[in-house]
Amino acid sequence: MRVLVTLCYLLCLLYYSTCYPLIKGRHNDTGSNLFSPADPAYNVTGVPDRCSDQGFGAMALDDKGVMHYFRGDHVWMGFQGSTQLIKETWEGLTGPIDAAFRIHNQNHPLEHQRIYLFKGSRVWSYYEGKLVAGFPRLISEEFPGIPDDLDAAVECHKGECRRDSIVFFKDDLVYIYTPEEEPAVKQRTWSALGRCTAAVRWMERYYCFNGIKFTRFNPVTGEVQSPRPLDTRDYFVRCPGRGHGHAARQNTTHMSIMNRCSNRSFEAFTSDDNSRIYAFRGGYYFRLDSNKDGWHPWPLSHTWRTLEGVVDAAFSFRNHIYFIQGSQVIIYSAYRIYIPIAGYPKPIQEEWKIPGMTSVDAAFTCPHSSDLYLITGNRLVLVDLNSRQRSGADRTIIHTEVDSAMCNPHGLYIFQGPSYYHYKNVEELLAAQEAPEPGNIASYFLDC
Ligand SMILES: *[C@@H]1O[C@H](CO)[C@@H](O)[C@H](O)[C@H]1NC(C)=O
Ligand SMILES: *[C@@H]1O[C@H](CO)[C@@H](O)[C@H](O)[C@H]1NC(C)=O
Ligand SMILES: *[C@@H]1O[C@H](CO)[C@@H](O)[C@H](O)[C@H]1NC(C)=O
Ligand SMILES: *[C@@H]1O[C@H](CO)[C@@H](O)[C@H](O)[C@H]1NC(C)=O
Repeated sequence: MRVLVTLCYLLCLLYYSTCYPLIKGRHNDTGSNLFSPADPAYNVTGVPDRCSDQGFGAMALDDKGVMHYFRGDHVWMGFQGSTQLIKETWEGLTGPIDAAFRIHNQNHPLEHQRIYLFKGSRVWSYYEGKLVAGFPRLISEEFPGIPDDLDAAVECHKGECRRDSIVFFKDDLVYIYTPEEEPAVKQRTWSALGRCTAAVRWMERYYCFNGIKFTRFNPVTGEVQSPRPLDTRDYFVRCPGRGHGHAARQNTTHMSIMNRCSNRSFEAFTSDDNSRIYAFRGGYYFRLDSNKDGWHPWPLSHTWRTLEGVVDAAFSFRNHIYFIQGSQVIIYSAYRIYIPIAGYPKPIQEEWKIPGMTSVDAAFTCPHSSDLYLITGNRLVLVDLNSRQRSGADRTIIHTEVDSAMCNPHGLYIFQGPSYYHYKNVEELLAAQEAPEPGNIASYFLDC
């Protein structure tokens, strides 16, 4: 499976400080038509125009991270996938669909999950594309307290909502369905948000669609989080003459940064206490643990509001993420969002009392340890993060051109150019006389 970066998307990133997604294509969408001006499916007679200003009646991701857009009798799959009839794609169902979501299972976050589709008084559930036995069922049986003829629905994950919940929209009312709570249904009126004809969670963010316009919102309070309603065709689907893709395709540097499969080196990797894995390249980052929502480069400021430019090294320690840029250290605390710690950036020399250290190539911590390892050239400097100073003598390693390093429960990874070297632990790295067989970063970590 090879999914190329969507160009319109990357330019959108440049134009808006808060960014919004474009969704990747189908699996066999090789990207070969990435540069072609129009998708032939737009113009087939009798097939409705995905790009019409009607927008969509429902949207949901499937278990492979492909977005489905429903309108009338049709469904579009992926950012630029083909048009299909709902009755041919979803067994036992005909359009139009009122609402859709992909359920979340907190205990098995990586497993395939069911999709629920709502129409009139009934709900259909599909698993890996097949209708689940016992469905369709009445909404009133499956989700007691939730009305028929819904406008929209979206799953809300624990951590983003207080518990795993489903947010249903109908007319001016919002119904928050939390099976673990009593009462399971709470009604809200989110007048600032207005009505939603479709809603979707994508990469930990929540979007409400009203016709062709969409708004980002807080799924707990209904607060509007985007400056104004934006056009779905500029972000969520590929439409001729929309988005701003033309300039970017000239720039091959930019392309190789944004294309996760380009084999261009990454400047930093880190995994945090919530098992989120980040890879940093050229002012952007990729999340490596959330491929269920597709693969996307994001500007650093999307997650670390004050961070810009290239990161030289990153590591995580006790719910904090540390970045090293040039001679400076910057720290963010990670709760639900990352908050910069006051007093930073601060020079490396000062932070860890290491005279003369004005840059590093890589940095890593291993789980449940306060030992920080800084790599410059073939030198490994050990720092104790509790006392914030060096502990023990410097060591040398056999690698001399390290871009980045990461240690997690699976071991220690040294990244160099397009390759990585895996060690069981620091001791194995220090004892190594020769490098182990390299692996390819793009294929192993980024599913290329
Ligand atoms: C993509 O896959 C679908 C179904 O597997 C197939 O019908 C379609 O022809 C494929 N498209 C391309 C461009 O290979
Ligand atoms: C659709 O077809 C019309 C008439 O042939 C043509 O003028 C138009 O450019 C086409 N649109 C796209 C998006 O290809
Ligand atoms: C190309 O992209 C790179 C990386 O985003 C950027 O730094 C550079 O300014 C771009 N060059 C041009 C000519 O736009
Ligand atoms: C990246 O490197 C791997 C391994 O050397 C190679 O198989 C693959 O074709 C390369 N990909 C690109 C886009 O150059």
